[in-house]
Amino acid sequence: MLGGVTIVASGSATPSQCLSNDQISLRVDTNDEWIKSRTGICARRVIGPHESLTGLSKQAGEAALRMANWNADSLDLVILATSTPDDLFGSAPKVQSLLGANQAVAFDLTAACSGFLFALITASQFLKNGSMKRALVIGADQLSSWVDWNDRRTCVLFGDGAGAIALEATSAKNEGLLGFTLKTDGNRGGCLNLHKSKEFLPLIEEKSHQKGGFSPIQMNGQEVYKFAVREVPEILESLLLSNKTKPASLDWLLLHQANQRILDAVAERFSIPQSKVLSNLANYGNTSAATIPLMLDEAVQDGRVKPGDLIASSGFGAGLSWGAALFKWQGPS
Ligand code: UT7
Repeated sequence: MLGGVTIVASGSATPSQCLSNDQISLRVDTNDEWIKSRTGICARRVIGPHESLTGLSKQAGEAALRMANWNADSLDLVILATSTPDDLFGSAPKVQSLLGANQAVAFDLTAACSGFLFALITASQFLKNGSMKRALVIGADQLSSWVDWNDRRTCVLFGDGAGAIALEATSAKNEGLLGFTLKTDGNRGGCLNLHKSKEFLPLIEEKSHQKGGFSPIQMNGQEVYKFAVREVPEILESLLLSNKTKPASLDWLLLHQANQRILDAVAERFSIPQSKVLSNLANYGNTSAATIPLMLDEAVQDGRVKPGDLIASSGFGAGLSWGAALFKWQGPS
C-alpha cells in the first residue's frame, strides 16, 4: 500500500552579484527594452569569486531545514537537480556533508530546466513506497558559466540560483502530491544543448583522446518557445483532467521561469488570471533547475502561498524534457 508525500518547507539562495539589462548592454549589442519586452527579464544574479553552486545549494537546503524545523541528521535523502555541478562526479555528496545530513544518501539528477520537477517526483517515490521518511530536493544551476557572453541571443536569458523543498512521507489520505507526468523527447533535443567539446588530443602514435570540457549553450530560441507553448498546456490539461481538477480551482500556476510570454500564453490557455501566476523572472531570469523552488520560496516567504494552497507546476527545457505536478503546499507543522 503506497503512502503519501507532503511538502513542508522551502528555502532559496541567490548570488550577491546582480547584472541589469543595461549592464549586459555594455558587453553585447542589446538593450533593456528588447530584453524586457521579449522576455520580461530585468536583471539576473551571477555567481562571483566568493560563491559557488555547492554553497548556494547548501544555503537553500539549510533554509528549508530551518523552516521545517528539522535536524539535518533526520534526512534520508538529498537530491540535487543540476546540470552545472561543481564536480562532474556529483555535487550532492558535498552538499550533504556541508548540511551535516549524515544519515542521508545524496546524488545529483540532471534534467536541465525540468530537473527540479524530475527530482521532486523521484524523491517522492522513495517516500511513498515507505523506504524513506524525509527528503530534501534542491534545484540549482550556474548557467552563467556555460553561456557565450558574446551571444546576445542566449546570454541575456539566464541567471544563477538555488531553491529547495523539504518533503515528508505521510499517509495516503493526507497525500499532498496529487498527480504528476514526466516526459522526454530526445528526437527534438537538438534545439537546446550544452555539448561536450569536440577537441581530440594525441595520446600516442595513432591514438587520441577527447579533451574534457564543454562548448557554450546553443539554443534555437524559437523552436524552444514553440515547444513550450504547445507541450506545457497539453501536459497540464491532461494532469488536471486525470485529477478531476478545474483550472479555476487552482490557487497558483507555478511554471518554469523562462519567458514571461510563455507564462502569459499558458495562463491564457486556462483562463487563469495574472494574479494567480507566480513570476519572479524580472529579478532572476531563467535559473534553470532553480526557477520553481526559488519562486515557490519567495511566494511562501511573502505570504502569498498559504498552507493548503493548490498549485499546478510545470517545468520544461533541454532534452527535450518536460513535466507537470499538482500539489498542495502543506508548510511546516
Ligand atoms: O529553459 C528553457 C530555455 N529556453 C527558453 O525557454 C527560450 C524560449 N525562447 C524564447 O524565449 C525566445 O525565442 C527568445 C527570448 C530567446 C527570443 O525571442 P524571439 O521573439 O523569438 O526573438 P528572435 O529570436 O526571433 O529574434 C528577433 C530579433 C532578431 O533580429 P532580426 O533577425 O529580426 O533582425 C535577433 O537577432 O531580435 C534579435 N535579437 C536581439 N536583439 C537585441 C536576439 N536577441 C537579442 C537581444 N537583444 N538580446
